[in-house]
Amino acid sequence: MQQQLLSEERQGEVFDKLKGPAEGQRNFYIESYGCQMNFSDSEIVASILMEANYAPTRNMEEADLILINTCSIREKAEDTVRKRLRIFDKVKNSKPGTLVGVLGCMAERLKTKFLEEEQLVDMVVGPDAYRDLPSLIANADEGDRGVNVFLSREETYADISPVRLDGNGVTAFISIMRGCDNMCSFCVVPFTRGRERSRDPFSIVAEARDLFQKGYREVTLLGQNVDSYKWQQPDGQLHVNFAELLAMVADVDPKLRVRFSTSHPKDITDDVLHNMARYKNICNYIHLPVQSGNSRVLKLMNRTYDREWYRNKIDRIYDIIPDCAISSDIIAGFCSESEEEHADTLEMIEYAQYSMSYMFAYSERPGTLAAKKYEDDVPEEVKKRRLREIIQLQNQISERHNLNDVGKVFEVLVEGDSKKSTHDYKGRNSQNKMIVFPKEAGVKPGDYVTVKVEQATSATLIGTMLQTVTV
Ligand code: SAH
Ligand code: SF4
Ligand code: F3S
Repeated sequence: MQQQLLSEERQGEVFDKLKGPAEGQRNFYIESYGCQMNFSDSEIVASILMEANYAPTRNMEEADLILINTCSIREKAEDTVRKRLRIFDKVKNSKPGTLVGVLGCMAERLKTKFLEEEQLVDMVVGPDAYRDLPSLIANADEGDRGVNVFLSREETYADISPVRLDGNGVTAFISIMRGCDNMCSFCVVPFTRGRERSRDPFSIVAEARDLFQKGYREVTLLGQNVDSYKWQQPDGQLHVNFAELLAMVADVDPKLRVRFSTSHPKDITDDVLHNMARYKNICNYIHLPVQSGNSRVLKLMNRTYDREWYRNKIDRIYDIIPDCAISSDIIAGFCSESEEEHADTLEMIEYAQYSMSYMFAYSERPGTLAAKKYEDDVPEEVKKRRLREIIQLQNQISERHNLNDVGKVFEVLVEGDSKKSTHDYKGRNSQNKMIVFPKEAGVKPGDYVTVKVEQATSATLIGTMLQTVTV
């Protein structure tokens, strides 16, 4: 799950669809950073605030409440948040009474320290405490700055119907679990998100059905490690695992595509792969972060699989789902990584033939196992050079992967106008590749069409539409 900023453009789409504030109502403005989970949480926050009679605004200057949903995954992510806080400070100074709240992972990591470090922050709210927002706001109105960073073992916000902030009206995220019980030594998430818990599958299916009825045609099931999804009825009668959940959501309607993220190589099962092969509407795409291609480094990272295990998983996926696309997350320059070990990572990229990867230089996070046990001893310029090599190789492979699609015909779900031209549509194929093609009369977002690929770059496929599809 990746870092991305909810761009002005996307916020625009959101708020144009929502009504402005009524007389006497207060406005809130929310910005989100970090992974899709955070974006999904912002939709829960929006729902809680709208219940409490707040109206969303895309304009920070007219907001009574400015919220920032933060990420701690790398130092850079936290730096970005602090820069944004400087900008909010200016707005607050020019409009006394405006409240500023810090939500999400950085709130959880820094807790009360935030109030000491950032004088103009009025509330600090961790990922499991969003129901408490209305009362924290009421206290802040009285000048009482508040913190709630309680991490719950139960909270899944199952009963809250998220307000779809990123409203293309076609694709949506559904959060199926929270927290993470893995202890990857480099990672701050178990500390910021708490223990893993799975959401009631019937509330997940109900949300998917509701989205389908509203015209949505694709849902992405979200969790830090979806393959360890495990739900048990309180009386112990019924158990649902991830493979079963996938099938339950896919059964909502054959016209509803189902995606999921993120998979952990140690937990993804053959049952999941078989269900993907069996259901046409479960997309043939798996994000399977490897982190490193070397067994010693993987052991230090506490990933609990080694190079051989990962390669076998890759083989298994391509055996069961031959046209599956696989993508990855990769960390360059983890503690004590040698040149040979780095070369193993490059080799793994070749072996797996990833369609794309998210690639990072290792950034030590305070409090993690790696920060306590290992020295962050790979010099910054070496990390950067290794990262460049990884990116260069991945780009070549992505380009090859895409060129291989030229001449093929794919079923594409139309998502909307392409970024570059209102004469073109964009949509993705089952393998999660974006395809751009000229608009045809009578075709609208939410339709399925077949597109023949004519050209490819390392990032996008370009094609022409053949026909609309009735699934
Ligand atoms: N739950 C997901 C990943 C969540 S974080 C999973 O297990 O795959 C997204 C990615 O950020 C990770 O896969 C990892 O590649 C990267 N990441 C996490 N901590 C990092 C750190 N300290 N430095 C650099 N990259 C990191
Ligand atoms: Fe972090 Fe590992 Fe959990 Fe992913 S599985 S969130 S990398 S601890
Ligand atoms: Fe996500 Fe960043 Fe938190 S990646 S879980 S928002 S630390």
